[in-house]
Amino acid sequence: MIRSAAVHAGRSLRRPTSHAKVVASRGLATVADPPVRHYGGLKDQDRIFQNILSRHDHGIKGAMARGDWHKTKDILLKGDSWIIQQIKDSGLRGRGGAGFPSGLKWSFMNKPGWEKDPRPRYLVVNADEGEPGTCKDREIMRGDPHKLVEGCLVAGRAMNATAAYIYIRGEFYQEACHLQQAIDEAYKAGFIGKNACGSGYDFDVYVHRGAGAYICGEETALIESLEGKQGKPRLKPPFPADVGLFGCPSTVANVETVAVAPTIVRRGASWFASFGRERNQGTKLYCISGHVNNPCVVEEEMSIPLQDLIEKHCGGVIGGWDNLLGIIPGGCSVPILPKPMCEQVLMDFDSLKDAQSGLGTGAVIVMNKSTDVVAAIARFSKFYKHESCGQCTPCREGTTWMMNMMDRFVEGRGHEREIDMLLELTKQIEGRTICALGDAAAWPIQGLMRHFRPEVEKRIADYRAKHGKVLFGGKLVSDVDGTHALPDNMGAFLPEVEAPKAQSP
Ligand SMILES: Cc1cc2nc3c(=O)[nH]c(=O)nc-3n(C[C@H](O)[C@H](O)[C@H](O)COP(=O)(O)O)c2cc1C
Ligand code: SF4
Repeated sequence: MIRSAAVHAGRSLRRPTSHAKVVASRGLATVADPPVRHYGGLKDQDRIFQNILSRHDHGIKGAMARGDWHKTKDILLKGDSWIIQQIKDSGLRGRGGAGFPSGLKWSFMNKPGWEKDPRPRYLVVNADEGEPGTCKDREIMRGDPHKLVEGCLVAGRAMNATAAYIYIRGEFYQEACHLQQAIDEAYKAGFIGKNACGSGYDFDVYVHRGAGAYICGEETALIESLEGKQGKPRLKPPFPADVGLFGCPSTVANVETVAVAPTIVRRGASWFASFGRERNQGTKLYCISGHVNNPCVVEEEMSIPLQDLIEKHCGGVIGGWDNLLGIIPGGCSVPILPKPMCEQVLMDFDSLKDAQSGLGTGAVIVMNKSTDVVAAIARFSKFYKHESCGQCTPCREGTTWMMNMMDRFVEGRGHEREIDMLLELTKQIEGRTICALGDAAAWPIQGLMRHFRPEVEKRIADYRAKHGKVLFGGKLVSDVDGTHALPDNMGAFLPEVEAPKAQSP
């Protein structure tokens, strides 16, 4: 599947060493094959976030020295349609996880006749960043907060918004302080507020600190929380662009998506679009954690091979590449990939989708062979169970069931046929809930069984060898009182499990 996607994209997905050899799709070449484009190796001058490591001044002086707020007035004066067209042409897709084309999404705010709507209009910036493994937005807000504030103004102008609300995770105390400092400085300099940058456009920016629930990162739950209610996702439609924050037209966008906008319009859509593959353009912040020698947040080109990203920026896998077990490429919501696939995939939306995983937030979680992969995925199940808001039955009940089954599988206390039952359960949750938390809870388990099922089966077999037969639900056959009738749907009478013997009184 990956190979066919690679051929379709006109390039090989193999490791760089083999890139040059793989192109030969013709037997009798009469002209030279086009050079194979190798992605990655972003130059420093092409990095949008110049202070992502917070080594320099995050205040307005440092920001302006790095090019922020340069001719912002000219950008604003070009108008909403021009900015939106630039974002569309740049190929920017949302960096919050779903990868929806940003220019298109922002244009939903400017439906014909929007001018006659007297309601205020809002840009809501999603700085909740609760996805385990993800730690990029906080670095933007700590080191480059002016990029986000300027981004709010530019994106806000594109949507004809009255104000921006930045909803930041409460634990990000330092980041919220830096952000507030940047907002205060921008007001003082006349960059935002009344007649922002002298453009005649009025625009306010507010910071709102959340209380740290993962579900408040979901855009409609975030809106509810901003309104002072419990963070519970809303049914859609109506979509936020029609009825959003305080019942007004709103768009929720990720920190990174908003923060890259000024640089895109300043340097040109074609500059941004020159990075990465078709439909996957641009630069991207990747956060790499887990069993690598140098965990980091780094801006790289989209479509960089996953292995290159790890070797180049993280000093490789602890114990060497051959010690790799698997990688979760986009935050804990996307399925894990085993080592052979990690050698083939590119870090972009399409390549990872073809590999039955996802780019998500670009949070790469590396696991070497010291990892108990079943326990790792079981831990995620616990997380989702804890974070489910409880509105939808499949998610509320299903996450608890999945957690309980996964916990049993960690020690092997299960029936082999329960693996398929668990997979069936994930399918009953996926796509049947109000928000995507249900999918996010189901996918890691599907990935585990797709690639590491023999490991789960082995644990079940080992446990059975040590403790005796196990019924559906995890009860040992030896614990069942054989004088009681045993329902035949407990797996007791299947070939793997012997019927319980009557216990002596
Ligand atoms: C359970 C859940 C949690 C989410 N958490 C975040 C988050 O922390 N930050 C974020 O930007 N998007 C998060 N999202 C995605 C948002 O709903 C939304 O798609 C995103 O903010 C849109 O921004 P974008 O268009 O710039 O990608 C989450 C989605 C779900 C279902
Ligand atoms: S899927 Fe889960 S978290 Fe999302 S609305 Fe339903 S119950 Fe709440």
